[in-house]
This record gives sequence, structure tokens and C-alpha cells, in this order.
Amino acid sequence: MAIFITFEGVEGCGKSTQAELLKGHLEAVGRKVVAVREPGATPVGEKIRSILVGSEGEGMSPLTELFLYEVCRAELVHKVIKPALEAGVDVICDRFTDSTLAYQGWGRGLDVGVIKRLNSIATSGLVPFVTFFLDCPPEVGLGRAFKRMRQGTPEDRFEKEALSFHSSVRKGFMELAAQEPDRVRIIDANRDISLIHGEICDIIKRCVSRKS
Ligand code: TMP
Repeated sequence: MAIFITFEGVEGCGKSTQAELLKGHLEAVGRKVVAVREPGATPVGEKIRSILVGSEGEGMSPLTELFLYEVCRAELVHKVIKPALEAGVDVICDRFTDSTLAYQGWGRGLDVGVIKRLNSIATSGLVPFVTFFLDCPPEVGLGRAFKRMRQGTPEDRFEKEALSFHSSVRKGFMELAAQEPDRVRIIDANRDISLIHGEICDIIKRCVSRKS
């Protein structure tokens, strides 16, 4: 049975690296895998991503921001994620519904109940099999993000937010993990990349054997 895995966390937590490593691991054990990111991964999603994370989106209202993330999600779920899962292909998604709850809910202060409802509409009720919340202090993550910027990666709109915003986002992820401990696994991301990867592979192995 195909599995749907998501990675979450504050800026610079290392989730994209871990998503890539996990894809390699699952392929090495013979599974078919598609890796995508949110926002993006469809032509519509990538166009909206540039507005959402780039300077064009500066000053947009939190509600506009929320709807744009949900637009990207609806397109990605219906065009890519669901068809892949139905075809027996695992899907790894770099950010998903929990990011909207943490960033637009805890970060921007929008109503968490409304976001949960919109998430459910955009995904037609699709929930990840397992979610890895890569936890690190926001100042550590932002330090890594700024280092990447100095090496040429353009800054994104959220990286300019105050530390207090990122601390609220982290608190949101923590609360979501407390609400759904079976699905959302907290991973200490302030460690060696290979240690983190090993822990993630172990969890996947246990979850898959429990489900099959
Ligand atoms: P990335 O840097 O992990 O690719 O994510 C892009 C930015 O979008 C990141 O700063 C987090 C933000 N984001 C939200 O605010 N809400 C969402 O629902 C998602 C998916 C991302």
C-alpha cells in the first residue's frame, strides 16, 4: 500500500534535505516514490509560490495568503498526490496542511478552526500517514537560512519575519504534535543529518509494518 509522508518545521530546519534522503532510502528498498513541495509542484502552484514567497506578495492580507496556500494545495492534491497514491506510488511532501495551521494560524493569528475546515476542503479529507516535524530553535534554523542566502539562494518573505513570529510557528507545530501524536512525530533537528535520517527510516519501517 502506498504511503503519504509529510515534512514540517520552521525555516532552515533541514526538512528538504531529509525528504530527499528518505526518497532515496525508499527507492533503494524497492518502493516507487514521488517527492513534491508546498507551495508548488504544479504549474499553477509554482506561479502562486513565486507570489507567496517572493517580494511580489509583500503586504498581502493574511486571509489572501491563506487562500493562496489552499489553492496551491487543492491543485497539488487533485493533480499529483491522489493520482500517485492511487497508482501505488508513495508521496513525500515538503510541507502540507500543518504548515498552514502553524504559519497562518499560530503565526498570523487566523482562526485555527477555519483553517482546519479549509484544509479539509482543499485536500478532500486526505491526511498524511505520517508527518515528521523537524524541530529546532528558530534562531538556529534562521541562521542556516541566512547562510544559504549568502551563498545565493534568494531570501523568502517569511525569513524577514521577526523571531517572535517564528517562535509562534514553532509553538503551533508543537501543539499540533500534541494533538495528534500518532501522526505527527517530533524529530530533534539540531543533530547530525545521518542520525536524523536513521531515526526517520526507523519510524517509517515501524509504521509500515504496523499498517500492513
Ligand atoms: P519552504 O521555504 O519550506 O519552501 O516554504 C515556503 C514558505 O511558505 C515558508 O516560509 C513557509 C510558508 N508556508 C506558509 O506560510 N503556509 C503554508 O501553508 C505553507 C505550505 C508554507
